[in-house]
Amino acid sequence: MLKLSSITNTDDWSWKSLQSIEASFEDLRRDFPILQRTVRKNKPLVYLDNASTTQKPNQVIDSIVDYYRNRNANIHRAVYALAEEATEAYESTRDKIAHFVNVQNRQEVIFVRGTTEAINLVAYAWGRSHVKEGDIVVTTEYEHHSNIVPWQLLAREKRAKIEYIRMDDNGELILDDLDRFLATGRVKLVTFSLMSNVMGTITDARTIVSKCKAADVPTMIDGAQAVPHMKVDLEKLECDFFAFSGHKMLGPTGIGALWVRKSILETMNPFHGGGDMIREVHKYEATWNDLPYKFEAGTPNIADVIGFGAAIDYLAKIGMDNVRKHEIELTRYAIEELSKVKGLCIYGTRDISKRGGVISFNFADVHPHDVAQIIDDEGIAVRSGHHCAQVLMERLDVAATSRVSFYIYNTKEDVDVLIDSLNKVARVFKL
Ligand code: ALA
Repeated sequence: MLKLSSITNTDDWSWKSLQSIEASFEDLRRDFPILQRTVRKNKPLVYLDNASTTQKPNQVIDSIVDYYRNRNANIHRAVYALAEEATEAYESTRDKIAHFVNVQNRQEVIFVRGTTEAINLVAYAWGRSHVKEGDIVVTTEYEHHSNIVPWQLLAREKRAKIEYIRMDDNGELILDDLDRFLATGRVKLVTFSLMSNVMGTITDARTIVSKCKAADVPTMIDGAQAVPHMKVDLEKLECDFFAFSGHKMLGPTGIGALWVRKSILETMNPFHGGGDMIREVHKYEATWNDLPYKFEAGTPNIADVIGFGAAIDYLAKIGMDNVRKHEIELTRYAIEELSKVKGLCIYGTRDISKRGGVISFNFADVHPHDVAQIIDDEGIAVRSGHHCAQVLMERLDVAATSRVSFYIYNTKEDVDVLIDSLNKVARVFKL
């Protein structure tokens, strides 16, 4: 098995030429057992659906197996050795997360099932006591359903309104809309994704947050697509709520993190009631545990928290600046090559500095499911459909798109295989 640290010690690695970085990224593939398999008619797997979920390296898989084999015990509840070890392993991931996204206070990091649960937690535990009739929650036209539907549920219950920052034809937000909404004095929250899951657009978060700060309006950021792909510094972003998921960054499914500024977290009611989130329970009343445990009711997903920690270790060793460099290189190449395919139309900006490694496209009137099926025969995995972003599909005036999305183990050869198969689609449909 490849020893990641032997090639990815950032101290002597990050300064290397791009060519040698790219060679190191190719070497990483050996850590991912699934990339060794074939699919369909014995075709090597070309996995290009990383915005959906990423593959897992041995280091993550082994950490979960090790927990169940050697350290399985419940956490925070007992003094015996196994329980202490399990608690320590679980809590060490909280520290890793805090370090990874630059949070000073580990009490502000709450484990959740993923970004969707994080946003629902905020809509429930903060929204229900802060949003009133006639208030406005602002979001954007390129959000995932998970950053729309929880606010719709809240707005329906409170008779509040949702407003959308529109997107221009380049896939970028029209921030004049935000100024207009803030000027009403009714905005209670502005919530947006740091990177679009459909077009890869990187949101100008600093500008949005500073406009909101000037108006004394809190901000929530959906970091699910951004944190796996670039360096994210919460101290610099200065938002108030931030969510991301483990499974999109090499970790297991069913685990994620919510960060909330402590001054806000202290004003929030619990989300779920049960064990571990309480200090005392009497027949008719209860008091709450300290932060962050007040928001972590019941036995948590211990094994996957530990796996999440292993994923963060892995990415930290590569260095997020190197991850971003690799993806810029791949995305630039892919956009150049995709642009040569007859009949293919790419959505979103061509400016690589403003986008991540997610590319959505359509072929004239060929349905994306047909595209996905034909290229699946070549062993290529891409997502087709509305990508849980139907508001964006309406804005683009399409029912669906095909989407390729890259990660650390993808190579230019993967792009070449994709292009060959798309040329086959063009031939089949006589484009
Ligand atoms: N949010 C995931 C995606 O964009 C599932 O595919």
